Amino acid sequence: MKAPRARILFVCLGNICRSPMAEGAFTHAAREAGLKVDVDSAGTGGWHVGKPPDPRAIAATKRHGIDISHLRARQVASDDFMRFTHIFAMDAHNLSDLIALRPEAAEARLSLLRDCVAGEEGRDVGDPYYGEDDGFERTWREVSAAAEALVARLSASVS
Ligand code: 4NP
Repeated sequence: MKAPRARILFVCLGNICRSPMAEGAFTHAAREAGLKVDVDSAGTGGWHVGKPPDPRAIAATKRHGIDISHLRARQVASDDFMRFTHIFAMDAHNLSDLIALRPEAAEARLSLLRDCVAGEEGRDVGDPYYGEDDGFERTWREVSAAAEALVARLSASVS
């Protein structure tokens, strides 16, 4: 039987650095692979709701040919656990916040994003917000590797 269309949510703290970069990388990789998915991102915190991604996140992602400037931050809501099939946390802190928020009727599978990459299970996508610009290049490498691995996994499960 064909698996239902995946609905993927990426979650970090502010929804202005890591998770919009993951959303951009994954949306691009899925399109290239002809994989039909619904994609969004959100933050566990609400400080940046309505804001575009951090300019450093926009610039780093653009260097790899992907525009995320249209995205706007939002906070995770309890119905996200019903709307999405998979929720990927960027780090262990985000994951424990999500576990605390998760309603009993949750349907989404919850895991760390880098669990998608063989050999990187259990690792965080480090928070680049307070660091130097080159931290965003590292974020790009981490989220894009995971996005490619996730697309390969989902493509295998729908064929
Ligand atoms: P993000 O990065 O969780 O990857 O979006 C951060 C953005 C904002 C803050 C912390 C991390 N902040 O403290 O405002």
